[in-house]
Amino acid sequence: MVKALSDKDLRHMISVTQNAFDFDFSGYAPESLKRRFIRLMERLDYNTVYEYQYAVTNGNISRETLLNEITVNVTDMFRDPEVFFQIVKVIFPYLKSFPQFKIWHPGCSSGQEMYSLAILLKEHGLLRKSLQYGTDINSEVLKTAEEGIYNLVDIKKYSANYLESGGKHSLSDYYTVKYQLTKMDSELKKKMVFSMHNLVKNPSFNEFQLIICRNVLIYFNREQQNKVLSLLIESLATYGYLVLGDKETISFYEDNRQLEVVDKQCRIYRKIPIKDG
Ligand SMILES: C[S@@+](CC[C@H](N)C(=O)[O-])C[C@H]1O[C@@H](n2cnc3c(N)ncnc32)[C@H](O)[C@@H]1O
Repeated sequence: MVKALSDKDLRHMISVTQNAFDFDFSGYAPESLKRRFIRLMERLDYNTVYEYQYAVTNGNISRETLLNEITVNVTDMFRDPEVFFQIVKVIFPYLKSFPQFKIWHPGCSSGQEMYSLAILLKEHGLLRKSLQYGTDINSEVLKTAEEGIYNLVDIKKYSANYLESGGKHSLSDYYTVKYQLTKMDSELKKKMVFSMHNLVKNPSFNEFQLIICRNVLIYFNREQQNKVLSLLIESLATYGYLVLGDKETISFYEDNRQLEVVDKQCRIYRKIPIKDG
């Protein structure tokens, strides 16, 4: 059983993974990446990095298995409800000023955050003007996001968070229940587009009024966080908003003149024009 991986082992596994799947994990935070690789090896009963290498090069591990084990896909509807409350209060008036606006959720996982926002947009008469783009590197979570089918057991927690986010009705108005599953209202989905996008290697693909990228930067090392933040800023319209996760910050960012802090607690930032001189 593998107990620990050295830095050299990790570098070897990163290089093997990149050759086989074209995923570059060299910009991920090393300690959490080691834990995830150890977990993968335990699950598959590999004792050495060379067993992993053999399995990867012989096609015994699928791309999906790898991503499901190495990346963290945990998400929730109305996660950190105070953030949604502030998005409605601070950002919705800005969105309202556009005939149409675009929102990007990089690392959207299985999409609960997008359905949460869609519900609030609908309650504020903004859903029809919106277009939400959900992207991730993991095709399996994107499929779940596209289906909008979630487990019923979580819904009670979601309901409380929905109300704390400032929801005006009942969360049950927005889904139907079949067996132990809930299916989100198809009207919410009409304004969503899902696609694969790798923040490590793919370029900016549009200009957005709002980017919500929560709990994704935390998995990268400092250098990669800087690169991803540059990509997010580049993808924002001037005066557009960026929302990060509660353990994420821009304080280390090399060029943070381009962002002003709107709400420090809720990690809400705004892109401002750079002043000359
Ligand atoms: C913890 S989830 C965050 C989900 C949601 N944003 C939230 O806060 O509830 C992190 C997601 O980032 C995705 N991810 C990891 N590396 C990525 C990359 N290089 N490009 C795009 N997405 C990535 C993972 O697949 C995972 O779905």
